[in-house]
Amino acid sequence: MIITGKYPQLRLRRNRKQAWTRRLLEETNLSCNDLIMPIFVMEGKNKIQTIKNMPGIKRYSINNLGKIIDKAIKNGIPMVSIFPYMNQKLKNLNGSESLNEDNLVCKSIRYIKDRYKNQIGIMTDVALDPYTSHGHDGILENNYVNNDKTVEILCKQSLLQAQMGCDVIAPSDMMDGRVGQIRKILDKNNLELVQILSYAVKFASNYYGPFREAIGSRKNLKNDKKDYQMDYKNKKEALREVSLDIKEGADIVMVKPGLPYLDIISSIKKEFKIPVFAYQVSGEYSLIMNGIKRKIINDDAILESLISFKRAGCSAIVTYFAYQLASVLK
Ligand code: PBG
Repeated sequence: MIITGKYPQLRLRRNRKQAWTRRLLEETNLSCNDLIMPIFVMEGKNKIQTIKNMPGIKRYSINNLGKIIDKAIKNGIPMVSIFPYMNQKLKNLNGSESLNEDNLVCKSIRYIKDRYKNQIGIMTDVALDPYTSHGHDGILENNYVNNDKTVEILCKQSLLQAQMGCDVIAPSDMMDGRVGQIRKILDKNNLELVQILSYAVKFASNYYGPFREAIGSRKNLKNDKKDYQMDYKNKKEALREVSLDIKEGADIVMVKPGLPYLDIISSIKKEFKIPVFAYQVSGEYSLIMNGIKRKIINDDAILESLISFKRAGCSAIVTYFAYQLASVLK
């Protein structure tokens, strides 16, 4: 219980008077251990490309991955998340390139594991959107993503990524039942220690634009993803999604996007005690960066946004700010 007194004896500002007392009284903080760094990979050799609306974020060809991973390790980042920028020619209706063991993601996993062993964790997205010509996360049938057929492919995609050495499998597709099926196939193949980080609560959001540009799926996608990703008006449904994923065997759950959904993070934490991550998505990044670049807001806004996730109860945050923040925090 909070004991309340009365002004003028009680003055909360006393505790805020100097920097040192403010430091003593901090309730939360952010360290490099809390950051997951997304990395975009592309085909080719010696390539580094900038990405529209994501200042500071680049695509790397595999032989250049070392440049960014070295930095991540040096700055104490525990895990990276790999996203592929796919050649349009490799995309088709069923996203079959997702099951090619020499696809960009598989090659990246092998490259990183070979070079760095367990110095840094690897997380990979499980979903078909980088690989489909229509940009949806699954198999389209009569303009509707078929759940069970998609789950079958997602299981194969998960198994493949885990066999390549991926540590954390992160289904981001929002199909029903996929976490349980993925757990099953991993266990059957002696991969019972591979973690599942479920994008349990993923909203059909307006903040994904720059990411779709970054992985080259923006033009492919003709409509929205509202019949599989969640309606942002709903919170009880979000908790229901989480409880199902926990029953199916998720080790960690994620909420995405981040800042508009702090209430959901905090409720999950209260109700389930499971580790919760947030994904501060591309649109959130672009907005804050744009504000800083135009001097509308101060660059401390970055820290303010990330601390809010910690306050809400997150263990870690997938964020494009990992690049610039890690060195500061270290
Ligand atoms: C797709 C996926 C998306 C993001 C991560 N995985 C976009 C989408 O659902 O269309 C978005 C990340 C971001 O905006 O930074 N499975």
